[in-house]
Amino acid sequence: MCGIVAAVSTRNIVPVLLEGLKRLEYRGYDSCGVAVHLNGELTRARSTSRVSELEGNVAADGIQGGTGIAHTRWATHGVPAVHNAHPHFSSGPSSKTDSDNIASVGRIALVHNGIIENHEELRADLQAKGYVFTSQTDTEVIAHLVDHLYSGDLLDAVQRTVVQLRGAYAIAVFCRDEPHRVIGAREGSPLVMGVGTDERNGDHFLASDAMALAGVTNQIVYLEEGDVVDMQLGKVWISARAESGRYANVNREVRTVNAHSGAAELGPYRHYMQKEIFEQPRAIADTLDAVQGVSPELFGDGAHRVFKDIDSVLILACGTSYYSGSVAKYWLESIAKIPTSVEIASEYRYRDSVPNPRTLVVTITQSGETADTLAALKHARNLGMKHTLTICNVSTSAMVRECALAYITRAGVEIGVASTKAFSTQLVGLFLLTLALAQTRGHLTDVQEQEHLKALRHLPVAVQAVLALEPQIIAWSEEFARKENALFLGRGLHYPIALEGALKLKEISYIHAEAYPAGELKHGPLALVTSEMPVVTIAPNDALLEKLKSNLQEVRARGGELFVFADSDTRIESGPGLHVIRMPEHYGALSPILHVVPLQLLAYHTACARGTDVDKPRNLAKSVTVE
Ligand code: M6R
Repeated sequence: MCGIVAAVSTRNIVPVLLEGLKRLEYRGYDSCGVAVHLNGELTRARSTSRVSELEGNVAADGIQGGTGIAHTRWATHGVPAVHNAHPHFSSGPSSKTDSDNIASVGRIALVHNGIIENHEELRADLQAKGYVFTSQTDTEVIAHLVDHLYSGDLLDAVQRTVVQLRGAYAIAVFCRDEPHRVIGAREGSPLVMGVGTDERNGDHFLASDAMALAGVTNQIVYLEEGDVVDMQLGKVWISARAESGRYANVNREVRTVNAHSGAAELGPYRHYMQKEIFEQPRAIADTLDAVQGVSPELFGDGAHRVFKDIDSVLILACGTSYYSGSVAKYWLESIAKIPTSVEIASEYRYRDSVPNPRTLVVTITQSGETADTLAALKHARNLGMKHTLTICNVSTSAMVRECALAYITRAGVEIGVASTKAFSTQLVGLFLLTLALAQTRGHLTDVQEQEHLKALRHLPVAVQAVLALEPQIIAWSEEFARKENALFLGRGLHYPIALEGALKLKEISYIHAEAYPAGELKHGPLALVTSEMPVVTIAPNDALLEKLKSNLQEVRARGGELFVFADSDTRIESGPGLHVIRMPEHYGALSPILHVVPLQLLAYHTACARGTDVDKPRNLAKSVTVE
């Protein structure tokens, strides 16, 4: 999704800005741009191609300067096109000039992440004042508004602008008339300030993610909601609105953040997604590394008191993270015996619900920056639910800062848009949460604890054995690549795994895929089954196996072609219209963590066979920071 990098310095900062954009590339974008202060004017380059092409344009046009802002855009308002790409300048070349006493040409340059909800009324107002719009974006109104309110002090203009904005924003702005100054502001979208370590050049930086600044500084300030930051050479001030409505300077903690570079080496893999699928044994082992035994304190100080106080769990998440929460519901209710509901964050935040103050609100998010999940958490808290916990892969993210308790998964940076290792490590975190709650509630004996821990520790080896099935899965994927539809079936705690398998396939191969609990087939979807419809089935050797076998018969009787991932002792054998890949041993409650792996591989190899952009599928972004 959109990314921001900005800087003030005495040296040419353009290479740093472009490098920062490259570090954010994996999040997905459809255009990019950079603007600097050059010879008393604002200059920019924008592209609907990759940052590497922008880099070429910048070099060709001799764009360099010490004050600059850069952006990757993921289109919301207006198509992906150069005229909609950021940075936006106030008014633009065709607008009125100073002599008209209305707006100066290209005085303000601005980049923006988020969505401005009142952009239409602001646009109408600014147009009436003579501003000329050259894009369809909601962002351009901010540039014009800053220009309109500017009277020699950019900080003052930005502070007066942001109070008029409704919605979410992180912005970085600079002005033609104040060459060594960049102002940043945020509300609802993340923005960090990087304190420069090079005193000679007086460097300071802004970015939407600390990862963009890896390599230039690890001294990071996480700006809080409503903060405005004023960066000048070697100096920086942060202000926030006091209750009086006036801005006053505030102190914010500078943290040392060793953000990993997003540009990790691919090694022997073709894509990051493939690499990340194969990293799962290590990611799971790392996530379990510090776990000596089961204890509420794994989730933070005070967790024991919270776990004692609660009588239910509410899980809030989106996409793949929602599916890991859906698996956890089965664990939490069967092992910890605690009533659990799982809600799609973007729905929960807008529906009337019945709050229970004794609920543990659990958010699940790989990035920790998903706008819908953050808003759902805020909504739950506003309803009086104060016990909050997150399962998150980024320890410095907004979500970890917002929640009282946390379990940090150690998947490492996930670059492929399609989430894989983040999902399996979330499941590990959620299983530990289940065990800790079971223990607190008296449903976990010491013997059971040891058995579960043993199974968890053996998981990396078990996942490795599943990864060895890749050649068989590649053979299937060639057939899948020719299809336009697929059905996924699972039962019980493998139903969310079927949903995850269908999501993976549609995300990266663009094949229409749906998932159903197998018992639901005859209530409707069976009508879709023909020889053209591959039906992927997850067949663990669990209590529902015989029921599942009957469901498979229903498909075969209609000529449907079955592709079954069956545990070794299920006695499901290959035959006409029935293809079987044999999974290693049945893995009990943790079986979903094994069964998701072949589905990831199937989606990956099908997408490769169809020649799609696997790591950056069309229309999608890695980190969904807008609503
Ligand atoms: O960062 P999060 O876990 O909060 O992201 C949630 C979803 O946007 C994410 O899981 C998305 O569905 C992935 N592209 C799935 O592969």
